[in-house]
Amino acid sequence: MSILIRGGTLVTAEDTKRADIYCEGGLIRAVGPQLDVPAGARVIDAGGCMIMPGGIDPHTHMELPFMGTVASEDFFSGTSAAFSGGTTMIIDFVIPGPGERLLDAYKKWRGWSEKAAGDYSFHVAVTWWDDSVHEDMGTLCREHGVNSFKHFMAYKNAIMCDDETLINSFSRARELGALCTVHAENGDLVYRLQKEIFEKGITGPEGHPLSRPPEVEGEAANRAIRIAEVLGVPLYLVHTSCIDALEAVTRARLEGQRVFAEVLAQHLVIDSSVYRNPDWDAAAHYVMSPPFRPREHQEALWRGLQAGMLQTTATDHCCFCTPQKRAGLDDFRQIPNGTGGVEDRMSVLWHHGVRTGKLTANDFVKITSTNAAQIFNVYPRKGSLSVGADADLVVWDPDARRTISASTHHQNIDFNIYEGMEVQGLAAYTLSQGKVVWEQGELKTERGAGRYIDRPCFPTYWSSQRRRNELAEPTAVVREKPEQAAV
Ligand code: URP
Ligand code: ZN
Ligand code: ZN
Repeated sequence: MSILIRGGTLVTAEDTKRADIYCEGGLIRAVGPQLDVPAGARVIDAGGCMIMPGGIDPHTHMELPFMGTVASEDFFSGTSAAFSGGTTMIIDFVIPGPGERLLDAYKKWRGWSEKAAGDYSFHVAVTWWDDSVHEDMGTLCREHGVNSFKHFMAYKNAIMCDDETLINSFSRARELGALCTVHAENGDLVYRLQKEIFEKGITGPEGHPLSRPPEVEGEAANRAIRIAEVLGVPLYLVHTSCIDALEAVTRARLEGQRVFAEVLAQHLVIDSSVYRNPDWDAAAHYVMSPPFRPREHQEALWRGLQAGMLQTTATDHCCFCTPQKRAGLDDFRQIPNGTGGVEDRMSVLWHHGVRTGKLTANDFVKITSTNAAQIFNVYPRKGSLSVGADADLVVWDPDARRTISASTHHQNIDFNIYEGMEVQGLAAYTLSQGKVVWEQGELKTERGAGRYIDRPCFPTYWSSQRRRNELAEPTAVVREKPEQAAV
């Protein structure tokens, strides 16, 4: 199958130019003005559209077993929905239960993900520690293309990782040249606040944000950053949702520490008023962690994105349908945490970011694709339009409009957190491995066509230098031994 996309404007992280692009055998083969049509090639007219690298969502949870249930979106439906919004690769998470071997969990997730329609990769969570975890981290890096490990600082009595585990894992990641990522919320504090709030008689979804204030995220973000600094490892914060965490990231970056941070599209445009909805279901639909924040946090997050303090955008796509959310009808602590949006991320960011002038089209490519490809080491195979790269791309119509709704979306969930939002800027065509998988409103996906993408570890020079000299070059003081005092 070969395709020539003609007449569009190529937009990458670096530049914008009028050019055609020719794809064959799953790869980009030629880029240039007025390319000849090779015999047998399909021609797509991209007049009025932009051609960009397909989106990479570096944070999703397809069919995740969590809080007594399983996320409703599976790897096939989720990667298909992603295509309809212009996203061609996801990085999902293997999350071993406490005591479960990392390799066993990894193999289980690889089995589930065989049905994926689009390319994917896995971060692996470290949820507990012993020698087998140390060993499996090495095997995953060396033999299975895993270069990032996740640490949940929240979800006490489930998958929470204490400081000792964090330190062991960060040290091991440094040896391996892997990237550490964290969900930054102080889980002990959340546990305490949840109990206090529940005992005050606040049992509904409004209790959720009250038990997870921004300070809880800021403290954990700062703690993880400082631990990473002392151990000399790069760090990536997932779903940065508030000023407190953004300030910790900003300070570290300005001090020269290698810290990366992600923001979710939904945290940029939805505020905490959703939890005050008198309709229980409507409020519970927004229960995710960290929670939606008061408006001033969104403004700060946009500025963080503009300033390059936040480098990637994700969705944390983790769908639970209304009946699943109702497990917490009498107790907000039992509402499964998670929201969807893998289909909507690119349009929401284009509409609220590019159309408002906050971001350029090139910025958009960086934050939806290229930066994630570089940070997680799949660039330029992904995240670029260079010759030889995977032909994962999106023909983006900046004028097309859509009103987001659960009644028309492709995600396997019975509501949409953006319900009724009108967005301008949509994927007209999406190509995955050089094949059209989304065409003018129609999905053409194939179960199992997605490939697992290896992500090699980083060379050791990529590790952060320890910032403080006395830690980097420890020396002992040479002393005379004191005379042994007579007893
Ligand atoms: O509420 C959320 N975010 N659920 C998914 C698990 C996680 O914390 O990323
Ligand atoms: Zn999380
Ligand atoms: Zn998550």
